[in-house]
Amino acid sequence: MNRTLSIVGAGRVGRELGRRLADMGWRVHTIVTRSGATARAAARSVGDGRPLGRLGPEALEADLVLITTPDDAIEAVARRLARLATGWLAGRVVLHTSGALGSEALDSLARLGAAVGSMHPMQSFARGRRPRLEGICFAIEGQPAARRLATRLARQLGGVPVVISGGAKVAYHAAGSFASPQLLAVIEAAARMLERSGFRRRQAVAALLPLARQTLDNFERLGPRGAWTGPVSRGDVATIRRHEKELKKWPKEYREAYRALTRLQRRLMGR
Ligand SMILES: NC(=O)c1ccc[n+]([C@@H]2O[C@H](COP(=O)([O-])OP(=O)(O)OC[C@H]3O[C@@H](n4cnc5c(N)ncnc54)[C@H](OP(=O)(O)O)[C@@H]3O)[C@@H](O)[C@H]2O)c1
Repeated sequence: MNRTLSIVGAGRVGRELGRRLADMGWRVHTIVTRSGATARAAARSVGDGRPLGRLGPEALEADLVLITTPDDAIEAVARRLARLATGWLAGRVVLHTSGALGSEALDSLARLGAAVGSMHPMQSFARGRRPRLEGICFAIEGQPAARRLATRLARQLGGVPVVISGGAKVAYHAAGSFASPQLLAVIEAAARMLERSGFRRRQAVAALLPLARQTLDNFERLGPRGAWTGPVSRGDVATIRRHEKELKKWPKEYREAYRALTRLQRRLMGR
């Protein structure tokens, strides 16, 4: 195939997708960040691509421009690229990887004839980790040519493409937030409570992870109601009150989150 790719914004997602696409035969044309040093580091990490410390028209010479900056920069980057364009962009595809934004963030490039879309892997990319992409959902939306390429890329990366409407993206991304960063906050709160109860950090983590993993495993096999255990599921009101009384000694966010999650359990699991 040997098609060419520019990456604009090469952090956790840009580098990982860049590496994988390069392995799949894409030639990385340029890698753009906001400084020469980070662009060079990104090019080393991807193993290909000309590093650029600022946006230039060269970024638009590739068949695919992948914008992997933070969400808040995407629209401005697209506008800047549109100003740098020296001609009509028909035949080019521009994709961003934001979960919350739709392809309208790339309107300025669409007006020049580029096919625009978004491709969001529902996965957590942390620095220093190579996340699994096999079996991962990739939410895809945008113009037909952009959707077609994104769908092909998602499959080649081992993922499962799911086409959604631009209007559904905020809800889609909020759902992902529940399953990842919000879940992380809940687990970390639990770990800190155990630490303050006398556990060493390692013991706290070792105590909680099997519980959390078994719960997810039960959820997968039995569904939410079958997996539901704990005082709310049993109607142990006195125990819940004891928890809430104890949580008065903790920063107020612990008690607020506990209460909100108790109400959410009742609403979702029906008691
Ligand atoms: N991390 C995840 O788990 C995850 C998962 C799925 C989707 N996403 C989405 O993927 C996108 C990137 O997220 P990330 O976590 O990879 O972000 P990140 O690690 O913070 O990386 C962002 C990159 O963009 C560069 N950058 C920032 N502003 C720029 C600009 N104006 N022009 C050019 N480059 C710029 C930064 O480099 P310099 O600071 O050196 O310029 C950095 O390389 C976001 O839309 C995010 O919502 C993230």
